[in-house]
Amino acid sequence: MKLLNLNISFEQYAGIGELNEQDQLLCNKAEQALASSYSPYSKFRVGTAIRLASGETILGSNQENLAYPSGLCAERVALFSIGSNQPNAIIESMAITAQTDNFNITKPITSCGGCLQVMAEFERKQATPIEVIFYCLNGEILKVPSVKSLLPFSFVEERLER
Ligand code: THU
Repeated sequence: MKLLNLNISFEQYAGIGELNEQDQLLCNKAEQALASSYSPYSKFRVGTAIRLASGETILGSNQENLAYPSGLCAERVALFSIGSNQPNAIIESMAITAQTDNFNITKPITSCGGCLQVMAEFERKQATPIEVIFYCLNGEILKVPSVKSLLPFSFVEERLER
C-alpha cells in the first residue's frame, strides 16, 4: 500500500478590487446574469459568465422547474449553450456568483459535483485549462487555475478502456 497526496493551489482575494481588470469584468457579468435566474422554488439565484478565447462572454443562470430535478444549474445552462451554439469555442475562464434574499452569503459559492463533471469534460475536450472564479458579492473570491484541480478524479473515458 502506498499513501499518495494531491495538492491544489488556488488564489484567494479579499474582494473584487484585487482582481485584474479582465476578471473584474467577468465577475461583473456573472452578477448581471443573476437577473435572469428563474428560481421561484429555492429563491437562490446563481449567475455565471464565461469568457471565450474570441473575447465573447456567454452568460447563464439557474433555471428551475416545478418538477425539481428538471431544473438546471447556471454553469450547465451556460456551458451547454456554448456546446450547442459554438461547439469549437475555447473557454478561458468562468466566474460564478450567487445571491438570495433569505440570508447574507458571506463565502463564495462553489459549483456542485454535477457541474464540475460537465466543466471537466469541456476542459478535456478543448485540451487547455479553464480558470474558475468563485465570486462572493460581499466577501472573498477564490480563483482556481483549472477544473482538473477541483475534480482530479472526474469520470473520464480512459477509465472505460480495457
Ligand atoms: N445551483 C447552481 O446554479 N449551481 C450550482 O453549482 C449549485 C446549485 C442552483 C440549483 C438550484 O436552482 C439552486 O442553485 C439551489 O440549489
